[in-house]
Parts: sequence; C-alpha cells; structure tokens
Amino acid sequence: MQQSDVRPQSMERITSKALAERFIEVQVEALRKQVGDSKVLLALSGGVDSSVVAALLIKAIGKNLVCVHVNHGLLRKGEPEQVVKVFRDEMGAELIYVDAVDRFLDKLAGVSDPERKRHIIGKEFIDVFAEEAAKLKGIKFLAQGTIYPDILESKDGIKAHHNVGGLPPELNFELVEPVKLLYKDEVREVGVALGLPAGMVYRQPFPGPGLGVRCTGAITRDRLEAVRESDAILREEFAKNGLEGKVWQYFTIVPDYKSTGIKDGKRSYEWPVIIRAVNTRDAVTATVPALSFELLQHITARITSEVKGVNRVLLDLSPKPTGTIEWE
Ligand code: XMP
Repeated sequence: MQQSDVRPQSMERITSKALAERFIEVQVEALRKQVGDSKVLLALSGGVDSSVVAALLIKAIGKNLVCVHVNHGLLRKGEPEQVVKVFRDEMGAELIYVDAVDRFLDKLAGVSDPERKRHIIGKEFIDVFAEEAAKLKGIKFLAQGTIYPDILESKDGIKAHHNVGGLPPELNFELVEPVKLLYKDEVREVGVALGLPAGMVYRQPFPGPGLGVRCTGAITRDRLEAVRESDAILREEFAKNGLEGKVWQYFTIVPDYKSTGIKDGKRSYEWPVIIRAVNTRDAVTATVPALSFELLQHITARITSEVKGVNRVLLDLSPKPTGTIEWE
C-alpha cells in the first residue's frame, strides 16, 4: 500500500533523534509490508534524499535493495568513491556502480547551450538507468527520494517533479517513497539517526546537472577537471575555516575564456576560476556574504598553484537578482 500524498495535520515535525528513530521504526515496518520479499531498485546519486532512502531500505530489506550509482563525470571530487565506501563497504548494500563518464562527455562534446546541456544530461541519465533496470529482470519496485516540497511544488505547478516521470512507462514500476511526507530538515534528522556521515547529510545543495553547468559553454575534460579541483580546494578551505554550514552554497566556475598571465617566469594563457558563495533561505533571492580577504588570498594562491590551466581567481559579488546562483 502506498501512502497518501498529503501530510496529515497531526504529523509531528521530526526535530529530535527520538522522533527520527520512531519514524524509522514505523517506516521499516511499512516498507517490509509494501515490498515483502521482492527486490527494490534505487538510483543512488549520493545526495541527501536518495542516501537517506537507501539507508532506510537497507535497514528494512537489506540485500533486496539494489542501488545503481551512475557516475556521469560531473560529480564533485571524491563523491562516487564516497557513495561506494559508505553504501557498499560500510553498509553492505547491493550496489551497481556504472562508469558512464565517457558516454556523457561524448554526448556533451561541442554543446554550449545550457538548456541543451541540461536536457542531454537528464536524458542520458534516464537511458543509462533504464538500461541497468532492464538488465535486472523482474524488479517491480522503484524507490525514490521524493520529499514533501517536491510534491507541493509539482502540485502548484512551480516545477516539474524531478523525481517523478522520465522513466519509460514499459518499465512499469510501483513507487516506494518513504520520505515523501518529510521536509528537508526532517530528512537530515532521519539520516543522522540512520548513521549516515555528517558530510553526506548536511551537504550543500548540488544541481542535478552537476559540475556540467559550472564548466560554462561546451564542456571539455581538461576544463571540467579545473572545475572539480578548484571546487575541492574551495570546499576544503571553507571547512577548515569554519564556514561549512554557515555559507549556504559555494562553488567554483571555470568559464571558456582565457587571459594572459605569468607562470614560472613565462607567459601563460589560461582560464580564470570564479568563486561563487551565497546565502539564501529559499534560493529565490540570495546575498553574497563578506569573506575574509586573507582567506580569499590563500584560496587564490592554492588554486593558481595547484589547479592545472588556471592563472587567475575572481570573486562574484553579485546578489540574486541580478545574477542567478549558478552561471548557467
Ligand atoms: P539559480 O542558478 O537558479 O539556482 O539561482 C537556484 C538553486 O537551484 C540549483 N540549480 C539546480 N538544481 N538542477 C538542479 O537540481 C538544475 O538544473 C539546477 N540549476 C540550478 C542551484 O544550485 C541553486 O541551489
């Protein structure tokens, strides 16, 4: 039996470990009842929602959950490895790791329009996932990390529900959506109670098309690597300096543009890295926080010396509006 899509008035907000544990207990029971001895498929991106759904299902049905992690080459540094380490090695999940990096990057080669890039990434993801699902014959259930704001927003017509639809109808799955009545903060509370690492539960929002929209214009492997490496340095420095969890979202962009510089006493002609850091409540508007100049200088020194192909670092000072948070 699937739950209704309406959160009952009487449902208490999950604000403590005890309430999260109670939710887990009830859901484990409900999941076992819904799927019995059948297998359940889950696209595990490593994001908060799908990770919490995976952990809940592992608790409820163990090896009958089959996770598929598609590495499309647009994930942040260390993310695919963390998914494998946490879910396969530590939680003992049945995890299929699909290395689809070449497939995605080949399809994206030469494509510079942001919406076309998004469309290609979304479509290719569904194709890869559907192929994996077809190989695993006879799976009837599909788990999804749908959360309550997804349901509310798709009802209001604000955005297409990113978790629903997309998969070919002939796959004919029955949906398993154990966190669909929860708000994000509740999903996090449940994730902590399930023992997921804090870095996974409290991570900043990350767009579905991943680093692909931060390697602006037509994506090339070398520039994508510059995005990934500079992003890793920025995240490491923000964490070291107590900004993790304080600044809402921060990342780097590497535009398809070069400028003159000097490296090792020679003329260099290389990309700039742009730092974007914003605070917001709902991502509809955003402000730019004041950052320590010393820290920015230190990050600049690290990025220009450690990231191949980069000779400048810029800081985006634009609030939203006029600038959106992402550059594409
Ligand atoms: P913008 O750039 O519109 O971003 O100010 C607002 C928030 O949405 C995220 N974002 C996306 N998330 N798919 C996603 O799942 C996308 O295509 C996408 N584009 C932007 C962005 O990171 C920010 O948190």
